[in-house]
Amino acid sequence: MDWQAAIRPELEPMVPYAPGLRVSEVRERSGKERILKLSSNEHPCGPFPSAIRAMEAVLPRMNRYPDGSARALRGALCERFGLADEHLVVGNGSNEIIRLIAQALLRPGDEVVFAWPSFVVYPMVTQMFGAVAVKVPLAPGEVHDLDAMADAITERTRIVFLCNPNNPTGTIYRREAFERFLTRVPDDVLVVLDEAYFEFATDAEYPDGLAYFDGERPIVVLRTFSKIYSLAGLRIGYGALPAPLASATHKLREPFNVNSVAQIAAYHSLADEAEVIRRKKENQEQKTYLYSSFDRIGISYVPSEANFVYVHSARPVEVFEALLGEGVIVRDFGTAPALRVGVGTPDDTLATVSAFEAVAERLGGV
Ligand SMILES: Cc1ncc(COP(=O)(O)O)c(C=O)c1O
Repeated sequence: MDWQAAIRPELEPMVPYAPGLRVSEVRERSGKERILKLSSNEHPCGPFPSAIRAMEAVLPRMNRYPDGSARALRGALCERFGLADEHLVVGNGSNEIIRLIAQALLRPGDEVVFAWPSFVVYPMVTQMFGAVAVKVPLAPGEVHDLDAMADAITERTRIVFLCNPNNPTGTIYRREAFERFLTRVPDDVLVVLDEAYFEFATDAEYPDGLAYFDGERPIVVLRTFSKIYSLAGLRIGYGALPAPLASATHKLREPFNVNSVAQIAAYHSLADEAEVIRRKKENQEQKTYLYSSFDRIGISYVPSEANFVYVHSARPVEVFEALLGEGVIVRDFGTAPALRVGVGTPDDTLATVSAFEAVAERLGGV
């Protein structure tokens, strides 16, 4: 078999998604018993108690395939958000829905516009289907430059991805800038609003993507149970899609793409709104403490609307390694002069600050 000739040429330049370091690896390297994994924007606590109880109850029935249409969960999501059933799609993580949308729309040579740096999966799904990534640099303050993004749209543009709050910077674009942007997007370009961190945002001008979704306009809104709901290990996300696009994703998805444990855990999590509010508040408090500590240590950071903070660093590789030595795993970006630091529990926050303090002292700054 000539594999070079057999495999689609679009895949050649792609690199697989690189997950962060594993806790066991870092435990071995650092010799520390307590390892803080702050590298994947996960929630530091386990799933909601009601979700855990429901998951335990469903385990003896794992001989059965899941409900392929996820009827109960989709019904609950439609009711919560006032959506019609034909618009609601659930996926094996919102990541799957991103790929299905790309697979449904992109042809070789098409263009996909997104900010950079932003979520690494956008360039991956673009390349996967032979399309061309148009990366628009963030404006000063690490915010989406929506005017420049509108300028970057051409006749070849099929999709614009907007990540709000943005991963990895934690910044948002606000309502007014977003509405101005929408007036400039042609009707044959799909705008995908990736709101994976929606539940953490507190800014009064943060636009709720679903308020702009009417099923007619070419807008998609994506959310996930991986972050505030602590179900990252189960892989489950959802989206509001125009009906023809939702139908296309049903043709492309696997028959049982969302497993039954994920469906039942998400269903029960959705019912516990009080826990979401509690977690949002705690996340906000921890960020406030981190900011004041970073100010004291002399660390430059970007105020965040998510559950992670983008920290500027003149020597990110050294700082990353030194933090590993302290048992703290953050996310580095190769060349970018920054690190992304996840927000943890109050105990985690104290440990994070101590680690940064130790590293800043040793290296003479961060
Ligand atoms: C911006 C953004 N979108 C989507 C996802 C994917 O989330 P999921 O776990 O639902 O696939 C992530 C995960 O980190 C993310 O940061």
